[in-house]
Amino acid sequence: MGVGKRVAVTGAGSGIGAATAALLIREGWTVACLDRNADAARKVAGGHPVIAVDVADESSVVAAFREVKMKLGGLDALATCAGIFETATLMDTTADAFRRILDVNVVGTFVCIREAVPLMASGARICTVSSVAGLRGGGLMGTISYATSKGAILALTKNAARTLGPQGIAVNTIAPGVIDTPFAAGPMADPAIRQRMEGLSSFNRLGTAEEIAEGIAWLLSPKASFVHGATLVADGGMVMY
Ligand SMILES: NC(=O)c1ccc[n+]([C@@H]2O[C@H](COP(=O)([O-])OP(=O)(O)OC[C@H]3O[C@@H](n4cnc5c(N)ncnc54)[C@H](O)[C@@H]3O)[C@@H](O)[C@H]2O)c1
Repeated sequence: MGVGKRVAVTGAGSGIGAATAALLIREGWTVACLDRNADAARKVAGGHPVIAVDVADESSVVAAFREVKMKLGGLDALATCAGIFETATLMDTTADAFRRILDVNVVGTFVCIREAVPLMASGARICTVSSVAGLRGGGLMGTISYATSKGAILALTKNAARTLGPQGIAVNTIAPGVIDTPFAAGPMADPAIRQRMEGLSSFNRLGTAEEIAEGIAWLLSPKASFVHGATLVADGGMVMY
C-alpha cells in the first residue's frame, strides 16, 4: 500500500465515481471503493478494497471510514462522487423528496469529509462533485432539489477549504456539465432531451465520465498544489463563468 497515494472514492460503482476509481488505480493509487452498490464497486475495484456504504446514513459512513482506516491505514485523498438526481419541478416536489436529495448529495458529502479528515495529514486533498446545475440553478434536467443540492456543495466545499486549509488539507470541487452516465440515462433516452442537452455545450456533445475523472484526478494530485477552494467547471463551454 503506497503511503501518499491512498484515496477513498464514494460512488465508485458507476459513472463518474467508477471512472475516477479506475483512473486512480491506473495511476498507482490504493483506492477504497465506496458505494451503496458493493457488487458494482467490486467490478471497478479489482483487488482494491470495496466498502458498502449509504452516504445518507451517518452511522454507515462512520463505520465505512473506520474500515477505510483499518484497510488503508490513513487517507491522502477523498473524492465524493456518490449522488442522486431527480427531475420533479418546483410545483411537483414534495418536502420528503427534496430532503432525500439533500440527504444523499449534501449531508452525505459533509459526513464523508468529516469522517475522512481524521485519517488525513497535511498535504491531503479532497474533491467534491457539484454540477453546473448548482451554478445555473438547474434548468437542465434535474430541477429544484437537485440544483439546490449542487449549489450547497459549492458553499460546503468553500467552507471545508477555509476550515481545513490551515491544516494543509486542500479542498476543491468539480462542476460537470451534462455527462453521459447511467445517472442521466433516463431523461436522455428521449432524443429531443438528448439533443437539447448536447446543444447546451459549445462542443455540441455530452461529456464522458472519463473526462470528469481526469479533472478530479488532477485536483487530487500534487500538480494542483496551490488550487484550493476552487470550482473546476468541466462542461464543454456551457456556462463560461
Ligand atoms: N451525470 C451527469 O450529468 C452529472 C453532471 C453533474 C454532476 N454529476 C454528479 O456526479 C456525481 C456522480 O454522478 P454519475 O453521473 O456518475 O451517477 P451514477 O448514477 O452513474 O453513479 C452514482 C453512484 O453513486 C452511488 N450512490 C448513490 N446514492 C448513494 C448513497 N446513498 N450511498 C452510497 N452510494 C450511493 C450509486 O450506487 C452509483 O454507483 C453525482 O454527485 C452527480 O450529481 C453528474
